[in-house]
Order: sequence, then structure tokens, then C-alpha cells
Amino acid sequence: MTAYTMIAAVLRRDGLVRIITVPIRCCILFGVIYLGMMAITPQNASADDAAAKGREIVRQHCTRCHVVPNMNPYGGIGSTPSFAAMKWLADWEQRFEVFYTLPPHPALVKITGVSEERSESLPAFIAEIELQIDDIDAILAFARTLETPNQ
Ligand code: HEC
Repeated sequence: MTAYTMIAAVLRRDGLVRIITVPIRCCILFGVIYLGMMAITPQNASADDAAAKGREIVRQHCTRCHVVPNMNPYGGIGSTPSFAAMKWLADWEQRFEVFYTLPPHPALVKITGVSEERSESLPAFIAEIELQIDDIDAILAFARTLETPNQ
């Protein structure tokens, strides 16, 4: 019997093995939980980043016509639905995904690589909004953060 096995035998007899292994198990358990959280957090962070990016795009471009919660309560154009009110519609997400194809947006919004080139004989009648296709996801991520108002 080596010195190590003797010590192990004594420890086991005294129940010390249990006393030592419990903290080690706890460390492993918390280590696994910690790594799991590390793996999840970047996804949340990227959703937050997308929403923050979307907020800025919306503030810069969409508040010209739409009322957006916490941005321009007295702004917008009367004929234009507010972003909050649009969330009452069951298919609001789809509408945001393709808004640039729905009137009046094709006349003023251009998505790089997606929208057709505007004919020189039909120029945008007001300052054009140029966006990337990723910006649409960001706008949607921002719109998801808006609370649906009470009807
Ligand atoms: C020039 C004014 C103007 C700007 C700028 C504008 N919109 Fe609109 N938008 C409108 C009007 C007007 C409607 C209502 C159209 C209708 O009732 O058919 C609308 C409707 C919508 C709808 C609902 C579409 C439907 O047909 O149900 C979405 C979604 C939308 N806008 C998103 C946006 C986003 C996102 C931006 C910014 C990138 C934006 N709009 C910028 C005028 C504008």
C-alpha cells in the first residue's frame, strides 16, 4: 500500500473524501453554468445591438412621417400610422419586413442591392432614404421592443 492509498483510505473512512469532493463538484457545476451563460449572453447582446441600431435608423428616417413611441409624440404626419398603433395588427412583423415594397415607401426608400434602380424620369419626390438589407432586421428588432399600447 502506497502512502497515497493509505491517505485515501483514511480520508474515505473519515468521510473526508465527501467533504473535499462536494466543493469540487460545486466548482464544476458553477463552471458549467458560467460557461453556459457566456454562450447565451452574446446572442442577447447582438439582439440589443440590432435594436439600438434600428432605433437610430428609425429616429433618422422614419420619424419624418411616423410617430414613434418615446421619440416624437407630436411629430409625424397625420395620415401616417404610428409605429405603436401598427403593433395592433396581427401581421405587423410582416409589414415591417417588407415595408419598403409597400406604398408610399417605394417612392422614397432604396435598399442597396434589392430595390430596382430608380428611373431618371421618375426621381424620388422627397429626400431618398438609402438602407442596407441588414437595416430592415435592425428596424424589426427595434419595433419588437415597442410595447403594444392599450386599445
Ligand atoms: C414620407 C413619409 C414616410 C416615411 C419617411 C416612412 N413612412 Fe412608413 N408609411 C407612410 C405612410 C403614409 C404609411 C401608410 C400607408 C397606407 O396606409 O397604405 C406608412 C406605412 C408604413 C408601414 C405599414 C405598411 C402597410 O401598408 O401596412 C410600415 C411597416 C412602415 N410604414 C414602416 C416605415 C419605416 C420602417 C420607415 C423608416 C425606414 C418608414 N415607414 C418611413 C409614410 C412614411
